[in-house]
Amino acid sequence: MTTHQHDVIIIGGGGAGLRAAIAIAEENPSFSVACVSKVFPMRSHTVTAEGGAAAVIKPHDSLEDHIYDTISGADWLADQDAVERFVNRAPDEMIRLEHWGCPWSRMADGSVAVRPFGGMKIERTWFAADKTGFHMLHSLFQTTLKYGAIARYDEHFATRLLIDDEGRCRGCAAIELRTGTVRAILGKAVIICTGGAGKAFPFTTNGAIKTGDGMAMAYRAGVPLKDMEFIQYHPTGLPGTGILITEASRGEGGILVNKDGYRYLQDYDLGTALDVSDPRHPQKRSMELGPRDRLSQCFVKEMWAGRTISTKDGDAVHLDLRHLGEARIDKRIPFVRELARSYAGIDPVHEPIPVRPVVHYVMGGIDTDANAATNIPGLYAAGECACVSINGANRLGSNSLTELLVFGAEAGAGAARFAMENAEYNLSGLEAQTADERERIRRTYFSSPAKSGGERIAVLRGELHEAMESGAGIYRDADSLNATCTKIAELRERYARVALDDRTNSFNTELTAALELSSLLDVAQTMAHSARERTESRGSHQRLDFPERDDDHFLTHSLACHREGAEAPGIEYRPVTITKWPPGARTYGADSGLKRKPAGT
Ligand code: FUM
Repeated sequence: MTTHQHDVIIIGGGGAGLRAAIAIAEENPSFSVACVSKVFPMRSHTVTAEGGAAAVIKPHDSLEDHIYDTISGADWLADQDAVERFVNRAPDEMIRLEHWGCPWSRMADGSVAVRPFGGMKIERTWFAADKTGFHMLHSLFQTTLKYGAIARYDEHFATRLLIDDEGRCRGCAAIELRTGTVRAILGKAVIICTGGAGKAFPFTTNGAIKTGDGMAMAYRAGVPLKDMEFIQYHPTGLPGTGILITEASRGEGGILVNKDGYRYLQDYDLGTALDVSDPRHPQKRSMELGPRDRLSQCFVKEMWAGRTISTKDGDAVHLDLRHLGEARIDKRIPFVRELARSYAGIDPVHEPIPVRPVVHYVMGGIDTDANAATNIPGLYAAGECACVSINGANRLGSNSLTELLVFGAEAGAGAARFAMENAEYNLSGLEAQTADERERIRRTYFSSPAKSGGERIAVLRGELHEAMESGAGIYRDADSLNATCTKIAELRERYARVALDDRTNSFNTELTAALELSSLLDVAQTMAHSARERTESRGSHQRLDFPERDDDHFLTHSLACHREGAEAPGIEYRPVTITKWPPGARTYGADSGLKRKPAGT
């Protein structure tokens, strides 16, 4: 048995994982921290984030406004105590990141530049041009390097959480991809930071690695997955590839038009279309700066009305940036120009970019409290894989980069304290679980010669994609969700007969794809079942058969709980935490930027 022992184990090497690692090293400099990641940390998906990270910095902004925008953007499904903690800590995290080297874009007077994002009444998105995630990840990564006690297990695929005799999480079993060796990587506490699961859908901004592995691993170990029915479609992806065209392009003043060149958002209760030369354009919380769920739903309605543009990759609308001019595009959103030229053959300085909604983010995830702790003692989660919840039914653009800082730090500090207070564990039981896991992998994937006539990974994955997009997309109903749930049950049953041709140990990418598909099937099942049970419409979850929000019955988080064997998840509910902001109408348009005071003030 190859066993490695540390104090705290972090699974996932993206922004949340690296921020957690720094927090642990600061909490206890003598601690040994292991960072276990299926990719090299700088290849984590945080690197692709473009537009920015939200935090209050300007004197005309306020913490209260950030809280209100987040809660109303979430269609009142966010836990307000968690949102308050998030917003209060965000500015310090952003300043710390600057001290660690993040090159925030600046105004001529040297102050931090901020831009508006959708659903914000005041501009508060910090950015580093439109490569914000890249710069944040670099800054975090280089900061971890100064702590010699952070051991990296790059290209290790964690497949199972290890739980001690007293029910505490003490590490993971992981496959070293270079050799195929299954290792026990043990610690006194564990943090999962493995990102989202956009790859459950066929058309996504997400990189190939975002297959919900950490979510699935926690779920199988007994942590509920919370609010999994809430899937964010970003309104502006490139047709065909799904490459993100950042919301920053609309924050800078880009407009969306249909096939008639008409700014269709003005027909959907999102405010009036000011001329682009009007100094008040773009207006906050209005039109192109409405929230993502609403903009994606407007696209579908335009498509149903026959007013979208046909492209070889399906329907699209146009994102027009030409009025911004070449100098501004090159200074503020150079990556948008680079991406549009390389992947759509379009120079946005001279032509509008065809765009359409694309799966971008999972609002739900591993159920944690506001301390990033799960129901398993010693197990924490942060970043997109977790649901704290601050994003509720619809996340505001640019809150997620800040979330991974705030709750990555929270998880790191909490895990470090847990590890200090719960130092002792029994090694042999954890090694036995690792041996079981090694045997399970051998039996499932390598027990017989290549299974002729077995199920193919790509076929199963393709059918999953089709079922999710057709049945659990932007608009759903009972029939479509029933069909998706039935299909996933069938795919899970067929997965038991999956056939691998590759029997090698070193970088067996077929095995990796099989493990990832297994994660996706579990996670997709929680999405479809949670969506089927929520018979209301809220934020990104739009039921054609239940078009109204129903606070009387569904001001609640869904909790998808694992059941053994082939059974579908059980769905339970927990009330949303409301502190000072009682649920209200979700209004956008020019007047919605007025101050909303919390109740009782
Ligand atoms: O459009 C964007 O730049 C995406 C940002 C986000 O999802 O927070």
